[in-house]
Amino acid sequence: MSAIESVLKESRVFQPSDDFVNNANISSDAYNALCNKANEDYEGFWADAAMENLTWKKPFTQVLDESNAPFYKWFADGELNASYNCIDRHLIDKANKTAIIYEKDDGDSEHITYQQLHDRVCQFANGLKSLGVRKGDRVVIYMPMTAEAVIAMQACARIGAIHSVVFGGFSSGAVRDRIKDAEAKIIITANESVRGGKFTPLKSTVDEALSHGDCDSVEKVIVLKRTDSDTPWNESHDIWWHDVIQGQASQCEPEWMNAEDPLFILYTSGSTGKPKGVQHSTGGYLLGGILSMRWVFDYKSSDVFWCTADVGWITGHTFICYAPLAVGATQIVFEGVPTYPDASRFWQMIEKHKVTTFYTAPTAIRSLIKLGPDLPGKFDLSSLRLLGSVGEPINPEAWMWYYETVGQGRCPIVDTWWQTETGAHMIAPIPGAFPIKPGSCTLPLPGIMADIVDESGASVEQGKGGSLVIKRPFPSLLRTIWRDDARFASTYFPDELGGKMYLAGDSAYRDEQGYIWIMGRIDDVLNVSGHRLGTMEIESALVANPLVAEAAVVGKPHDVKGEAVVAFVVLKGNRPEGDEAQKVAAELKSWVAHEIGKIAQPDDIRFGENLPKTRSGKIMRRLLRTLAKGETVTQDISTLENPHVMEQLSESV
Ligand code: PRX
Repeated sequence: MSAIESVLKESRVFQPSDDFVNNANISSDAYNALCNKANEDYEGFWADAAMENLTWKKPFTQVLDESNAPFYKWFADGELNASYNCIDRHLIDKANKTAIIYEKDDGDSEHITYQQLHDRVCQFANGLKSLGVRKGDRVVIYMPMTAEAVIAMQACARIGAIHSVVFGGFSSGAVRDRIKDAEAKIIITANESVRGGKFTPLKSTVDEALSHGDCDSVEKVIVLKRTDSDTPWNESHDIWWHDVIQGQASQCEPEWMNAEDPLFILYTSGSTGKPKGVQHSTGGYLLGGILSMRWVFDYKSSDVFWCTADVGWITGHTFICYAPLAVGATQIVFEGVPTYPDASRFWQMIEKHKVTTFYTAPTAIRSLIKLGPDLPGKFDLSSLRLLGSVGEPINPEAWMWYYETVGQGRCPIVDTWWQTETGAHMIAPIPGAFPIKPGSCTLPLPGIMADIVDESGASVEQGKGGSLVIKRPFPSLLRTIWRDDARFASTYFPDELGGKMYLAGDSAYRDEQGYIWIMGRIDDVLNVSGHRLGTMEIESALVANPLVAEAAVVGKPHDVKGEAVVAFVVLKGNRPEGDEAQKVAAELKSWVAHEIGKIAQPDDIRFGENLPKTRSGKIMRRLLRTLAKGETVTQDISTLENPHVMEQLSESV
């Protein structure tokens, strides 16, 4: 941390237009009032927000319970249901409003009203119940980006089952690990996914995950028939989605949950080889998402909201499955990819569906700039009023293009900093309340006590880099790591910082106006195309290959992906050269794709007879990062056990 230095470089400031300010949900006065209220009466602030924004079956009397820190509880004696809050409470006045515009890969689209969504969720929920799924059971969802994925998640929430969505791009090994850790009773999948005109089998990946015989908890595999191709079938536990809902009633009384009951588990990467099951609560999580919609996305009932994430990530959980529905929005669920049938798909869809609020990742923006910088200009994007960015820092060039070419200089950009663990936006603009700066996620939201600290937990001065923390517990924070309380406490509330500050894992600094600039992770986590990957996860996958003796993985800057994976590998046999090296590198790349998923595949593999180590045997990762970037090594290598490997490892295969 001490090595982090100030990197101030961007000074442009963009004011929202008068029109935006005049119509904004939160004016600058309202914003100040919210911040003051949170500072003066923290619990009262959150209690008011929870009463105003959620519909409770049994209102809470307790607000924050800190008696067992860092296992904080919020609204603990209140009862509610997330699906009721997302669907039923809108039926009085919005039954015929479109909840979901489901646009398929081939461009066909289907409008699903709140009433229809209610009926489909209830039927599927009843189907799950008929298969014996009960409150607290875990359900793994491994599905393509379909309306049914949202229906499956909502149906779990309705009956109190805990869903664990696994991104459809993960391989059978990753699916198996997650099924085992969560001890899932049911898997919900589709025979195939359809993306960019390509059909990819999902059901057979589930079969492969189950084929090792160590997933005893699984009783049924529910399969959505997304395409007409043949599907491998196991009579003993496979069942079609359409058979699950057959004859089921379109009414299903929600299971009234305690506010602290887990809503879902979502696995994410950390600094060890094993992904963490981030466990979210029902009440606090939902509240966080709703506030993000109202404050940051300035949500209006006339909006057409589009978050382009996949439901396999937290962004898709909060900004597709839960928060837009919880506020009664019309939103898009998009099955396809931004480049099919061509690189204008996003712009064409914004025109077609009159999207007002568009939320995507910098990596998508950068790739679309490359593929067609002028394409947005060919479409009518006048419906847009607000743009959002998430997942990684947005570079000023991409920001300016997004602002001028997509937003036509009219739409504020909300650069939202948050994490799987925080469940909802933490540091982000409130677009009608204060100006924005390209590359900064601006200021913490009201009630979020973010700070930047040194190793001892003391605040650092303005302009100096440090570790990003949140000093008070807040409702949407993860409650624990699934069945690993000790790891939760030591990872997020380390003793060095006093055990009560949430350690985000990012470094950041603050500028003269207090605006926060995220600099990157402080742990061994990479951010590849906005996807979070642990270097140790990839290293474990590599060393599981029979050819590999040792591996070290680092990131290197990449102009589209943000970061790319570089693997330094020592084989059990001789160091390969020429064609042999090419062959082994290709084999290892597909090995990683098979073990984890394509997203974790190294871009660059380098072979050495050994890795650079200190005399005590520690791998010198800083040195590897320098080599990965192709920079000249200026570090002191005199303590290296084996300096001659440096030359070998600077050569990409
Ligand atoms: O490093 C930060 C980066 O993404 C990490 C969280 O990843 P994940 O849990 O997968 O959630 C991504 C979507 C919320 C953070 O620790 N990150 C996320 N948003 C931003 C960001 N870095 C800079 N700017 C952001 N807006």
